[in-house]
Amino acid sequence: MNALNLETVGLSSDRSKLVILDQTLLPNEIKYLELDDSEAIYEAIKKLRVRGAPAIGVAAAYGIYVLMRKHAGADKKDFASLFRKEKEYLNSARPTAVNLSWALRRMEGVMDDNISFMSIPELIDKLGTEADEIMREDISLSRSIGEHGFSLLHHGDGILTHCNAGTLATAKYGTALAPVYIALEHGWNDLHVYCDETRPLLQGARLSAFEMQTAGVDTTLICDNMASITMKRGRIDIVFVGADRVAANGDFANKIGTSGVAILAKYYGIPFYCLAPSSTIDMSIRSGEDIPIEERDPDEVTEMWYKHRMAPDGVKVFNPAFDVTDHSLVTGIITEKGIAYPPFDKAFERMGIV
Ligand code: MRU
Repeated sequence: MNALNLETVGLSSDRSKLVILDQTLLPNEIKYLELDDSEAIYEAIKKLRVRGAPAIGVAAAYGIYVLMRKHAGADKKDFASLFRKEKEYLNSARPTAVNLSWALRRMEGVMDDNISFMSIPELIDKLGTEADEIMREDISLSRSIGEHGFSLLHHGDGILTHCNAGTLATAKYGTALAPVYIALEHGWNDLHVYCDETRPLLQGARLSAFEMQTAGVDTTLICDNMASITMKRGRIDIVFVGADRVAANGDFANKIGTSGVAILAKYYGIPFYCLAPSSTIDMSIRSGEDIPIEERDPDEVTEMWYKHRMAPDGVKVFNPAFDVTDHSLVTGIITEKGIAYPPFDKAFERMGIV
């Protein structure tokens, strides 16, 4: 079994249901869910059954397509207002990953551009084609990100990653882990990947370590608080992480703990790269100050994964799901268009990212 062959998100063969790999069960169980109602799709995104910014975008695109198929009997006016209602609901599932609103806006654009002259069945087909295209693009963008990232690697490198920005977080390949898959294709078997466990939801332990191990990569799991000693002992040559939203100045939000890794990397003089498709760059946001940060249920910190509650009843818990890494700590931002170096706003402009 190789996790790279697992489809993270897609459609059922009759195209009537969104199919997702339930990532909350990994690595112990591989189970697919077939979803075709708003609440179930919202819940799957909210509860991280499907997660990772690009995968959330693809799931939202297929999700709204599946939902609109069920409104095939509506007249045009109702169809448009039902679309907006479903869109707003799905969009509210998670606030930080910009790919969710990006994908839904792109689907809305298809509806707005075609509704005046297409029949509802034609429009539904068109929405399905757009969702397929978002998925195809995600695979090809992720490959390109992987190739650019691969160009920075040397034989024997130790790579530290945080959370999971691998194949499970995208339609295929991932962002931060895509360079490792490309290296494997080139026959490189001497990279070492260190996965931060990533408290509290353990995406590093449950997903990245699983992905890398099943792909045959030399994989070491560390708790988040072990990154410093691992760097100090010279085991890390480069840090690769993903992003949920990149601001115009290069500040970026990613899984909680990422900014701490960046600070450590700076201290130890280790290059630190953020890897993300250009759809994750939100040029409407000037700096990380303006990125909305999701806060999640306290139980994720006090109880989840433990046999018994591990904190006193009633203790206050602060559980932000993301943090913002300051652009001054970032060596480069790797997109499908190439590697952006500081100043990032100018580099994004040159790359045609608007
Ligand atoms: O809460 P999650 O698991 O959705 O957070 C995921 C991350 O922070 C990823 O690093 C990010 O979405 C990039 S995935 C290519």
